[in-house]
Amino acid sequence: MDHFEDRPGPTGEAELWCEGVRLADIAAAVGTPVYVYSTATLERHYTVFRDALQAAMPARRLLVAYAVKANSNLAVIRTLARLGAGADTVSEGEIRRALAAGVPPERIVFSGVGKTDAELAFAIRTGVCEINVEAEAELDRLAVVAEALGARPAIAIRVNPDVGAGGHAKISTGKAESKFGVSFSEARRLYAKAAASPWLRPVGVACHIGSQITDLAPLQAAFVRMRSLVEQLRADGLTVERLDLGGGLGVPYFDAPEAPPLPALYAAMVAETLAGMDIDLAFEPGRLIVANAGVMLATAIHLHPRAEGRRFLVVDAAMNDLLRPSLYEAYHRIRPVRAGDGGPEEAHDVVGPVCETGDTFARDRMLPPVEAGDLVAFLSAGAYGASMSSEYNSRPLVPEVLVSGDRFSVIRRRPTHEEMLSRETVPDWLA
Ligand code: LLP
Repeated sequence: MDHFEDRPGPTGEAELWCEGVRLADIAAAVGTPVYVYSTATLERHYTVFRDALQAAMPARRLLVAYAVKANSNLAVIRTLARLGAGADTVSEGEIRRALAAGVPPERIVFSGVGKTDAELAFAIRTGVCEINVEAEAELDRLAVVAEALGARPAIAIRVNPDVGAGGHAKISTGKAESKFGVSFSEARRLYAKAAASPWLRPVGVACHIGSQITDLAPLQAAFVRMRSLVEQLRADGLTVERLDLGGGLGVPYFDAPEAPPLPALYAAMVAETLAGMDIDLAFEPGRLIVANAGVMLATAIHLHPRAEGRRFLVVDAAMNDLLRPSLYEAYHRIRPVRAGDGGPEEAHDVVGPVCETGDTFARDRMLPPVEAGDLVAFLSAGAYGASMSSEYNSRPLVPEVLVSGDRFSVIRRRPTHEEMLSRETVPDWLA
């Protein structure tokens, strides 16, 4: 459920609103392209997920660490932090964002395949609650960095459960051939090695098998394996306090028939899989919380019907603003902001202005009549939209707006062309 809905505008004609704000008013004030997020939806998604887990496992200690990479805007993190969310981070920059947004260090998890010594040191000094170690070389480096700081950081070993899942090959992480984590036998050895180090405090094991997972079976298969790993480690005489089950639960990008499991079903599956086990749990949801809390607005530049029969709708947003369709063939619903009268739909290729054929948002998409100047909304764009945007083709970084009730605020402004140029220098010898 989200808080974007059709309601009458000033002329009485139905159009898309976000909570109590007309999207057309935001476009008029901020320009397009622009991302718009709903506070009520962000809060709802976080709360539904957390409450479902808590209800299914009332006695357990749970950490819901929002995966900052999905949408790293400070105001978005802050919205969730106020509800008690932690943060799953993958760089010094993300840790800094989480701290700046008010997430306490004891709710910050630091993950990632290639953390530098400097980043590890930063995480230790910050006092994050868990550094997820993904390789033996990293474990060894972390011990050296910790010793130099006279610290004993809490770590988890990231295990690759060898379970394939995820909406696209590029976002599946849990198969043995992917670059993430270590095997079960390695995990056992590394956990013991960490426990023997005076500079490391192993507290748990972690997994994350992929993103946009729409079926509970692969998740359950992974969790079953994680459970047996914990039991094995404990049988080895090691202390395991926490199991980090990652993120990955998918969201409905289509109207139908795709329907990812609701958080309550996911929570029931986790509770059942881990029944009878005394262990704290951590979760790292990203997409689930933010995807349907955001839309991207664009303006139709023109229509370009080609002799061969294709009808191109060229909008002022491009792959640099929303990369997912180009990179993953991802589907986003596209609609005019004005609801229209349900007139005859026609197939359109919706494209951006960037000089690549890959700058295509949709092919043969059925759309009601759209004219130059009309506002168009790309739905379910709150996750991995703005956070993956760039200035390719020297297009200003796309701005972001947060709505709360009948208020809205620009939470990332569009840079000016002067600002963009001022970050670069021409060396003396070229003067
Ligand atoms: N934890 C770890 C260790 C992760 O690598 C990820 C996502 C998450 C949590 C959050 O997963 P989520 O709940 O959002 O599925 N850019 C791609 C998605 C990449 C996901 C990377 N890892 C996309 O736009 O579909």
